[in-house]
Amino acid sequence: MTYLQTKQTVQNKHTNVAIFASGKGSNTQNIINYFKNSTSVKIVLVVSNNLSAGVLDIAQKENIPTLVIIKNKFNEDGYRSELYYYDIGLIVLAGFLWKIPVVLIRSYPGRIINIHPALLPKFGGKGMYGDFVHKAVIANNEKQSGITIHLVDEFYDHGKIIFQVKCLIDRKDNASTLGKKIHKLEHSHYPLVIEKIIRDMD
Ligand code: GRF
Repeated sequence: MTYLQTKQTVQNKHTNVAIFASGKGSNTQNIINYFKNSTSVKIVLVVSNNLSAGVLDIAQKENIPTLVIIKNKFNEDGYRSELYYYDIGLIVLAGFLWKIPVVLIRSYPGRIINIHPALLPKFGGKGMYGDFVHKAVIANNEKQSGITIHLVDEFYDHGKIIFQVKCLIDRKDNASTLGKKIHKLEHSHYPLVIEKIIRDMD
């Protein structure tokens, strides 16, 4: 059963969103804040593969249910029953480090998005996350970097690009200062892009 088939039987006014994250969760906090008073979008679940991820503390503080997942089950069934239980309409990856299994991609066609801290298709793929990305960008003498929001398919950082925005790299920039610029861009744009995707979906 796909999400659309479920949606036909449950006529909700709003779209329920699950955020998948493995780390600190500054994007998650920012997205939660943005949609706090929304009548069309609700963040109803935070999923993490990492029991000690800061993002779980954020969810707890915000009274949002959490789900800690294990790899075997994730790859086997994608935790679809849990996601159907929460009537999830969009899955938002915000620093989630595991590859999404095909079984989940097929169940949520066009409804899983990711944010990447560089201008894909460059500087993506397995192991390209956090400071590893910024270090590679600087080592390559790039004059600019940016963020990419894209649909998720079965390859790391590969699906259709939905949105990109750039920033300039200073000669003085290092991975840490570039990382700060990128986070700022992510915080300004990710919630707006999520809102637009949901508006266009229904
Ligand atoms: C972000 O830079 C995002 O682009 C990447 O992981 C990072 C997550 O940061 N996919 P945070 O945990 O939301 O602060």
